[in-house]
Amino acid sequence: MAINPAIVGKTGNIKFESPSNIALVKYWGKYGRQLPKNASISFTLQNAKSITSCKYEVLSKKQEEIQLDFRFEGKQNDAFANKISKFILSIEDIFPWVRQIKFDIQSENTFPHSTGIASSASAMSALSLCLCSIHEIVDSSLKDYYQKASFVSRLGSGSASRSIYPELALWGKHPEIKTSSNDYAIPYGDEVAEIFKTYHDDILIVSKSEKSVSSTAGHALMDSNPYAESRYKSANKNLLTLLQALKTGDLGNFIKIVEREALTLHAQMMCSDPSYILMEPNTLHMINLIRAYRKESSVPVCFTLDAGPNIHLLYPSEYSSKIEIFIQDQLLPLTENNSIIKDKVGQGPLKIED
Ligand code: DP6
Repeated sequence: MAINPAIVGKTGNIKFESPSNIALVKYWGKYGRQLPKNASISFTLQNAKSITSCKYEVLSKKQEEIQLDFRFEGKQNDAFANKISKFILSIEDIFPWVRQIKFDIQSENTFPHSTGIASSASAMSALSLCLCSIHEIVDSSLKDYYQKASFVSRLGSGSASRSIYPELALWGKHPEIKTSSNDYAIPYGDEVAEIFKTYHDDILIVSKSEKSVSSTAGHALMDSNPYAESRYKSANKNLLTLLQALKTGDLGNFIKIVEREALTLHAQMMCSDPSYILMEPNTLHMINLIRAYRKESSVPVCFTLDAGPNIHLLYPSEYSSKIEIFIQDQLLPLTENNSIIKDKVGQGPLKIED
């Protein structure tokens, strides 16, 4: 379907910032077109975000090749540009106009490069929000803009589907959660005790090196992992226990499930073929220190991990000055060059320009 000829030549600029998120129950294993093997839930972050501007010009007809100029942090980046053109072309069935647009996309992250922090969730959600806005200009308005943005984000990177909503988001069909879907994430702030919305996520950078296995390759390893099926079942069970803890403000169960989820994710990688150990010695050292500190101080602090060695330290805001001393004294010396990124639960994406 061609674009309405009346808007040929139209130009504009859409700009969004969109945050990263940290999963509490992990998505690890997928099938089909980026569909998750189990439901997951995350805190939306506030400070770690991507800022993406998308200049567009409507061309008179569809082009053979995608017309894309892409810059990351002001510089040409062929690897990222390829990833983005592939992604945009892959959603031509959803946005049939993509080859009739000249794109000039610029993106940057607020968190430093090469800290081992994955940026696909923030980057893909920011880009998808821009594409949804262009769709509304060149085609038709979207019935549920955010749902569509989450759907499109998911096709770029599964975890990106969750970055669309403030505070907490849940992605993946769960038999006991009626509105849940494999296609897009849903907002999940309403049934959550206020204390969780004050949570901090301090990311202690144990190693700045690139991940030894990409998420995409990691998900694929689950296909031949002998424990995969029981993992998917336990993830869905953990989710229900966690939702109950979130609702009632049960910090003890929250801690239990969040740490179990992080360690199970790593255990899956250890028993994949090939096997990967994604923790570093200092990751384990910090985990032991966090548990010992929690026991002796009764401060409800816990950790989670992504598919890498960095520790995400999670705790309610009211404990931040106490925990700061613990971080300075015990954890920071175990990071690479005293690297820490301070983040907390945030309010989701923001449209900056139109
Ligand atoms: C460990 O969303 O990065 O962070 O869908 O292949 O892009 P793709 O993978 P990605 O996987 C995230 C894995 C995780 C857990 C999570 O965020 O739920």
